[in-house]
Amino acid sequence: MRVLTGIQASGKLHIGNYFGAMKPMIELQEENELFTFIANYHSLTTSKDADTLREYTFDAAVDYLSVGLDPEKTTFWVQSHVPEVLELYWILSKFTPMGLLERAHSYKDKVAKGISANHALFSYPVLMAADILLYDTQKVPVGKDQIQHVEMTRDIAIKFNNEYGEIFVLPEHAVQEEVATIPGIDGQKMSKSYGNAIDLFMPEKSLQKRCNKILSSSTPLGEPLEWEGCNIYDMAVLFLSSDQKCELQTRYKSGKKGYGHFKKYLKELIWEELGEAREKREYYLNHRDEVNDILAQGAKKARTIANDKMLKVKEAIGLL
Ligand code: ADP
Ligand code: TRP
Repeated sequence: MRVLTGIQASGKLHIGNYFGAMKPMIELQEENELFTFIANYHSLTTSKDADTLREYTFDAAVDYLSVGLDPEKTTFWVQSHVPEVLELYWILSKFTPMGLLERAHSYKDKVAKGISANHALFSYPVLMAADILLYDTQKVPVGKDQIQHVEMTRDIAIKFNNEYGEIFVLPEHAVQEEVATIPGIDGQKMSKSYGNAIDLFMPEKSLQKRCNKILSSSTPLGEPLEWEGCNIYDMAVLFLSSDQKCELQTRYKSGKKGYGHFKKYLKELIWEELGEAREKREYYLNHRDEVNDILAQGAKKARTIANDKMLKVKEAIGLL
């Protein structure tokens, strides 16, 4: 099955991103033909300056490679290194009714929040459709907010296929229902925009400080602690087997340990889980050329497929 995912590079990644997006993606590469790219043309819609966009793009590549994205198994590239996607984007625009774009939730939400609209923001779903259709994608794993964009992609593809023949594969979205919302240090959904995140790659001391800030109840030392509804527990279980979960519950109930103990324990769990990733990250940050080579190889492979598809599209519509 050909599965395609697009990563928006928007800064430091956190534990919520890791369990909600990165780990599930890495698992997909074992059984599927995974295509993954860093959506830097899309990020341009919110980018503030050139250096930041460059830095975020590179950092996202390093972070994903570090947590286990395997370039031997997955085709991994930077969106703008295959510029054919913009050619398809223009062609698809002709098959995109204005009403379809006007109904897009993410666009309407952004405008409602006061972000001043420009054409790139408005036509964002058409570029996403081009990303998906260019590579004959069958499945697109997305968060709930992106389902509508995959549905729009299907609408655009159907319109094209009806007029010019069966050129595009109709993609389906796949939503990972079982990934719970991971809480931040204040118990709200962890998000970089809420200032409650625990970043993936913090130095050990800062990580402990961050864990110490997790909001917990004020049960006095020596009394049993409630694990249900405890933010520390909710984060710790992400790392544990069911046996280990039971063991942790017993420790909560024993009344022998205070929250400080569990905060230290959580820090150890995070630190250990990411040990190998940290080493790989250190390596890639010191071997930037290797990262660029991996992305160049990925772009080369993606581009061969893209060129092939564009030939078919252009012939079908009369550009060739
Ligand atoms: P943020 O809210 O920090 O800006 P993004 O919206 O960039 O995060 O999310 C990127 C990916 O990480 C998405 O697939 C999203 O579902 C996942 N994700 C982000 N925060 C969480 C969380 N707290 N719990 C589970 N998944 C999350
Ligand atoms: N819009 C997606 C997001 O914000 C990123 C993205 C761009 C994407 N192109 C895509 C995701 C194609 C899946 C397929 O997360």
